[in-house]
Amino acid sequence: MHQDIARILLHETKIRERVRELANEIARHYPPGEAGLTIIPILSGSIIFLADLIRELPLKMKIALVHVTAYPGRTTSAQAPKTIHEPTGDIRGRHVLLVDDILDSGRTLRAVQEMIRRHNPASLRTAVLLRKPSKAPTDIVADFIGFDIEDLFVVGYGLDFDDHYRNFPHIGVLHPELMP
Ligand code: IMP
Ligand code: MG
Repeated sequence: MHQDIARILLHETKIRERVRELANEIARHYPPGEAGLTIIPILSGSIIFLADLIRELPLKMKIALVHVTAYPGRTTSAQAPKTIHEPTGDIRGRHVLLVDDILDSGRTLRAVQEMIRRHNPASLRTAVLLRKPSKAPTDIVADFIGFDIEDLFVVGYGLDFDDHYRNFPHIGVLHPELMP
């Protein structure tokens, strides 16, 4: 796996530090004792970020899952999200924090935010680990952002290419000959 990675963009220690800071930022917006918090990770890319983030969040929370397939197979260019499954848990009247790996073209977040709003949450905020600011549309709001990165296709720390490399601990760029 490591030999497929041409360059590391964000080392795991840097990611860990930033995730801790993000968790502190997020916690300040959800005073303890307030109405229930539901964290909604967008599967599958957010799984590692989610696992690290929620263990730094000392808040009482439920977790509801939303599954979206945005890059089926060996595609690296943005496409409309293919399948969006309804969330698995409680949303109505609860404070919802959406968690995603990356804000790229914004199509995934636009669709999921609309779907969540239809369930009448008490509030809706969004946290993303990465954002490609050169591409992200200005009308899609991410309230908490880990890192702004260049417009590169990245893998690792949950992000995949053809469903591989999610377990690579850093965030890196693949050797160009491996990509279509
Ligand atoms: P968007 O809908 O274009 O904003 O893309 C969001 C989804 O596409 C993310 O949740 C990722 O699963 C996937 N994606 C976008 N950019 C990358 C990337 O650079 N590497 C891996 N997956 C990506
Ligand atoms: Mg993906």
